[in-house]
Amino acid sequence: MTDLSPALPVNGDRLVARLKALGQVGALPEGGVCRLALTPEDGAGRDLVVRWMRDQKLQVTIDPIGNIFATRKGTQDGPSVMIGSHIDTVATGGIYDGNLGVLAGLEVLQALDDAGIATVQPVTVAAFTNEEGARFQPDMLGSLVHVGDLPLQEALDTISIDGTRLGDDLADIGYAGTAPLGGIKAAAYLEYHIEQGPVLEAEGIDIGVVEGVQGISWTEITLSGRASHAGATPMRLRRDAGLAAARIAHGVADIAKSIGGDMVGTVGSLRLRPNLVNVVAEMAQMTVDLRHPQEKVLAEAEARLAALVARVAEEEHVSFTRRRLARFEPVAFDGELVGRVEKTAKSLGLSTRRMFSGAGHDAQMLARTCPAAMVFVPSIAGLSHNTAEYTAPDDIANGLAVLGTLALDLAGR
Ligand code: GLV
Ligand code: MN
Ligand code: MN
Ligand code: MN
Repeated sequence: MTDLSPALPVNGDRLVARLKALGQVGALPEGGVCRLALTPEDGAGRDLVVRWMRDQKLQVTIDPIGNIFATRKGTQDGPSVMIGSHIDTVATGGIYDGNLGVLAGLEVLQALDDAGIATVQPVTVAAFTNEEGARFQPDMLGSLVHVGDLPLQEALDTISIDGTRLGDDLADIGYAGTAPLGGIKAAAYLEYHIEQGPVLEAEGIDIGVVEGVQGISWTEITLSGRASHAGATPMRLRRDAGLAAARIAHGVADIAKSIGGDMVGTVGSLRLRPNLVNVVAEMAQMTVDLRHPQEKVLAEAEARLAALVARVAEEEHVSFTRRRLARFEPVAFDGELVGRVEKTAKSLGLSTRRMFSGAGHDAQMLARTCPAAMVFVPSIAGLSHNTAEYTAPDDIANGLAVLGTLALDLAGR
């Protein structure tokens, strides 16, 4: 364990205890957590976090898309140093993804209180709505509305995979706030997150200095064929939507592998109708997630996907529709702030490595309006979006020390 002596005496044990406590809300029997955005479990998780914010005497505001902000005043008014992330999870999530960034922010504010430090600029902790995009698309929806790039009404009218309307779910859990959208301005934005991939652990590096986030393209494809008898319909006379979907899923992997390098492609959701053993599927609905750090390569993959879908549909005699669920170009973080993350980590005696983020993050939206940067710590076995997601307490303490030191530096004393 590195002997850290950060300028701000943050408490890693206290952070881990809160991570575990929040992880109890929506806990799954096999470990991990399910707090899909705007479900009652998400509401209960929010209630706990807001209670902690109020216990810390922070000024809590909630905007109309349900983003939660907790501010510790500075000696001067003006824009905040913002520390943020999300507390919604995927259905089989871990307790670290997102939650770490929000709770680490609260720990930094608690440490400032404990040390009796007054900062010049306010420091705000943000928990953004629906970062995951698992239940409502697009992902990073709350931060996208916050920066003004998705109209509020459009966001509120988004329909979930359960058929509910976002605005209604938000009201049901009591988080349709009234604070003005974008009312809390950030002078800089820091997000502390687990890596969610295998690189840092494999290379034995303490801190990932994140230079940017790769581009994300999400598409829903609906294939319509004809239900018919599985025993009585000859293969050549079928219009099998399930077969078409399977061919497209295979083709997505082929596209990613043939482009190679960092290209990834995933069919994470596939639903058939009527989904019965003896009926040729009349309908298949699938999602395709394509990602690459370069816009040009991502666009090439998208073009190849479009051609694949058209070809397979024609060959299998099915019709199709496509719906864009999310599309974000690759983002490069502010070079100066990224450099400060690196310098801070090194000054604490931690080893660093520059890297791109494979996952999407609220930081990529905040980067549209202010300098933003991220701190990564190792994920054991590179696992995330998995109930076995784990990051060791020492690693959590390392990232927290970087976050706290840099936040204090930025906010001034
Ligand atoms: C969402 O943020 C993702 O990276 O899947
Ligand atoms: Mn996350
Ligand atoms: Mn996630
Ligand atoms: Mn994410």
